[in-house]
Amino acid sequence: MIRVFEDPETLSRGAAEFIVGVAREAVAGRGRFSVALSGGGTPRRTYELLAQPHFRDEVDWARSHIFWGDERCVAPDDPRSNARLAKGALLDHVPVPASQVHPMDCRPSPAAGAQCYEALLREFFAPGEPRFDLLLLGLGENGHTASLFPGAPVLAETKRWVAAVYVAEQDLRRLTLTAPLINQAQAVAFLVAGAAKAAVVREVIAGPWDPKRLPAQLIRPESGQLHWLLDQASAGSLRL
Ligand code: 6PG
Repeated sequence: MIRVFEDPETLSRGAAEFIVGVAREAVAGRGRFSVALSGGGTPRRTYELLAQPHFRDEVDWARSHIFWGDERCVAPDDPRSNARLAKGALLDHVPVPASQVHPMDCRPSPAAGAQCYEALLREFFAPGEPRFDLLLLGLGENGHTASLFPGAPVLAETKRWVAAVYVAEQDLRRLTLTAPLINQAQAVAFLVAGAAKAAVVREVIAGPWDPKRLPAQLIRPESGQLHWLLDQASAGSLRL
């Protein structure tokens, strides 16, 4: 489903409303809400809005479990940290129990961190399938999502749920959920804003199948729903 909002602020508000709705449904239906947050800059305003009483008081934070879709292997206080972004904009301002907030950690090594996070997910979702109620994703101008970058070996991953990757263009190691895990989610939502993303949005949604070049095309939930939350600038010339 594709929803286009007038501008970044109404997009962020629409995304916050969407997240509150999914959270309410998850708790009512399954007794808990599990969400994997995305990084990057786009979701910041949505997180800030969710921390405001109007939205904050609509979420059952005591039954919410917070994960991440990916993380950069940097210190927790590094401005590039996705966990730092979400904590500063949202998690430090809502009553979610600290024991239910699960940042990724690249220590003692990215490979060990990936294994540890996968073990955490296996424990959390056992004995059922690893089905996040909601998985938020951004989209890079080069077609990456989470830390699934063009041409990366992780794009061919079929078994592991979490992988350590090296992003050469940023000289940065990262942890990422893999496409097979993301595609198990009950709902996946891309949150994309800005004219700079219009071309890649159109290519990913309406262009030829080319997931090695456009990893976001790998995201096709097996039984869950795929949502695109766009502003008019990023929706560009999409024929909806
Ligand atoms: C990351 C994100 C990444 C991000 C896109 C879009 O850790 O970098 O997970 O996938 O969502 O790069 O980033 P912007 O929202 O900053 O454009």
